[in-house]
Amino acid sequence: MALDESLVEELGFGPVWVRRGVATAAAAAAREEVIDAPAAVEAPRVTEAPETPPPVELRAEPKPAQAPPPAAQPESDIPLLDAYDDLPWTDEAPIHAEPALVDTPSDVHTLDWDALAERVANCALCRLCERRTNTVFGVGDREADWMLIGEAPGENEDKQGEPFVGQAGKLLDNMLRALALSRQTNVYIANVIKCRPPGNRNPELDEVARCEPYLQRQVELVKPKVIVAMGRFAAQSLLKNEASIASMRGRVHAYRGVPVIVTYHPAYLLRSLQDKSKAWADLCLARNTYREALAALGVEQGAQKDGV
Ligand code: URA
Repeated sequence: MALDESLVEELGFGPVWVRRGVATAAAAAAREEVIDAPAAVEAPRVTEAPETPPPVELRAEPKPAQAPPPAAQPESDIPLLDAYDDLPWTDEAPIHAEPALVDTPSDVHTLDWDALAERVANCALCRLCERRTNTVFGVGDREADWMLIGEAPGENEDKQGEPFVGQAGKLLDNMLRALALSRQTNVYIANVIKCRPPGNRNPELDEVARCEPYLQRQVELVKPKVIVAMGRFAAQSLLKNEASIASMRGRVHAYRGVPVIVTYHPAYLLRSLQDKSKAWADLCLARNTYREALAALGVEQGAQKDGV
């Protein structure tokens, strides 16, 4: 069921929520500046069809035969759009639940915030360090009750060193605002992968495995009461499965004892009008889960730190 447009506006999603041609001409003109793009240009490997996901490969090795990536093309020639530059690794490619066997430093779980941030900033554990501009550690309240986890930095995030600063990030901020949440005050946002995969390719198994201790430590330090996993990659990486978004949504999972709600990646939602109401339902489930967590701790409604 699509959200009513007035509700969309009321929720503050208007500028990035409604597709071109749906809203008034004036609104559309304003939006052109924000998200519009030439219709003929498509991001490569756009990630749709979460309801009927393709079968996934269970084994890490050997890798399944795949269409050759557009690797011959210099990265600067790839027609990435600002609005969509973080789509390619959102929901499409199979993610392997089986972790790669890699050596990771054993002391990460002992690091405090500063030491952890420094470790990530200087990390050279995988090949992604070679082409990054910045590591993207995370942003927000380090004692937040809500933690949101995405996949990996895109071009804008790599440039700015902050997660979700592109159009997907604007949509995410608007969605959070509807729940009285914001990265400035009461949410912590991080990614599974801290460095941008070149050309926005899918992260490799060993890259995920080498980065994993950082996210684990961030979760330990934040101690969130609820985690929202955005997109299939984040959800599968956290929950160590190969399930579809459709099958993971609508249930409360757990990551190291913390309730996890799975939802669509905001970049996917920029293109998929029909799933935006589902994303809102996911956030409402996260809110209810959060309230239940508070109630279990004996925190009265209204006295909570975060969210509505
Ligand atoms: N997509 C993500 O998953 N994370 C970001 O930080 C940006 C885009």
